[in-house]
Amino acid sequence: AKPVIVAIDGPSGTGKSSTSKAVAAQLGLSYLDTGAQYRAITWWMVTNGIDIEDPSAIAAVAGKPEIVSGTEPGNPTITVDGTDVAGPIRTQEVTSKVSAVSAVPEVRARITELQRSLARSAEIGIVVEGRDIGTTVLPDADLKIFLTASPEARAARRSGELKGADVNATREALIKRDTADSSRKTSPLAKAGDAVEVDTTELTLPQVIECVVTLVEEKR
Ligand code: C5P
Repeated sequence: AKPVIVAIDGPSGTGKSSTSKAVAAQLGLSYLDTGAQYRAITWWMVTNGIDIEDPSAIAAVAGKPEIVSGTEPGNPTITVDGTDVAGPIRTQEVTSKVSAVSAVPEVRARITELQRSLARSAEIGIVVEGRDIGTTVLPDADLKIFLTASPEARAARRSGELKGADVNATREALIKRDTADSSRKTSPLAKAGDAVEVDTTELTLPQVIECVVTLVEEKR
């Protein structure tokens, strides 16, 4: 069988990562967290004192850090210039700055290239999660899923993950990031015309996983 390419897009807090990892593990596919790559380059910019408010400063060094993503769903590693950044990329500082960095076309161009080459080299297939996978990165994907959920459900899930974080503050931060991601000029967060939309508001994680696994199996 030819490798199956699955694109899973949607805003934050819709269960993209948990779903994508579980589907990949269950079907023996590779897994790529593209948000982690944008977080990694953002971490590098912050660490090296690059002015996040200045797109031309970001563009000038966009090609510098070497970002390496592991594609094992059970162990999705990420390094920048050889440093393990799996922890540091989840801090609130990186989360609040990533949309400004990911909006810079030079950043997107090089990260997109990385993503395409990882997808091409996946032997059995790959689940790639992000914001623009179905629209821009892998427009020929065999299956495109667009996950949604109400803002309340998304904020509740995120503050659950962040253990004890304030739900209102989490919702505001989440909406701010989604608005920035959806309104940027270069490959904004959007549902591809041929994507299957799955509203996860009323679904449990196992139900979402089962739904996506069924859709992938229909394509194999
Ligand atoms: O999925 P996650 O919340 O880790 O993504 C972090 C950020 O990376 C998003 O808010 C967005 O700015 C950026 N991103 C993107 N395109 C993708 C994946 C993530 O612009 N395909």
